[in-house]
Amino acid sequence: MKLLVANWKMNFSPQEEKLWIQNYIKESFTPSCIVVLCPSNISLEYIYNYIKNKQNSSIKIGAQGCSEYTSGPHTNQIAARFLAQIGCEYVIVGHSEEKISRNLSYAVIARQAHQALQASLIPIICIGESLEEKQNNLTQEILGNQLKTVLKNLPSTATFYIAYEPLWAIGSGKNPTPEEIQEIAHFIMELTKKHTVLYGGSVTKETIKHYSEISELKGFLIGNASLDFQKFKKIVSLVT
Ligand code: PGA
Repeated sequence: MKLLVANWKMNFSPQEEKLWIQNYIKESFTPSCIVVLCPSNISLEYIYNYIKNKQNSSIKIGAQGCSEYTSGPHTNQIAARFLAQIGCEYVIVGHSEEKISRNLSYAVIARQAHQALQASLIPIICIGESLEEKQNNLTQEILGNQLKTVLKNLPSTATFYIAYEPLWAIGSGKNPTPEEIQEIAHFIMELTKKHTVLYGGSVTKETIKHYSEISELKGFLIGNASLDFQKFKKIVSLVT
């Protein structure tokens, strides 16, 4: 089954997050993919309990990030094992917005992914190139270096996803072509020896149809288009 990850970032208040899930669950339907909701940390527990009470097993909960540490004096960080305790099953690591604003290296991101695995969470590890790197034909070199740093810290038996998120496509309305995504997904699969590549960056209900046909992809990471629950539902229904 494909994975559809909704990354709400810092767009909603806790009240808006509650309303979203209540509305989404109201008209029940059975999707043919796994939906992973990544709300703010404040709402994780509420959303987990709400879904559990409604016995909706097609929705899983993910966090938008976790610490590279297990515990201790790390102000404003959250340990992967604490996320697991409140019902999270997935965690995004290395999202470019966090990576840039906190100046994180892939060595740190690798440790975050390691912490996630230690806590039995499934890390969704983001990699991606900038527009300048793409224009200089450096995409595969950049992605390869990011991936190798992460992979050397993870056991080969680990369960994880790699989200290919070109920096220039996130929130910009610009997309790579399906052929470009397919080529990159193939490249990532060769390095990871796994069929676990997601694509993220300005995915909409218009583009998802073509992207869904890329057999190398195991799913999608969706920001803006996940904020409107109706639009998101439409996307969910189009993922096969
Ligand atoms: P976007 O965000 O869909 O708004 O481009 C994707 C992401 O940041 O993962």
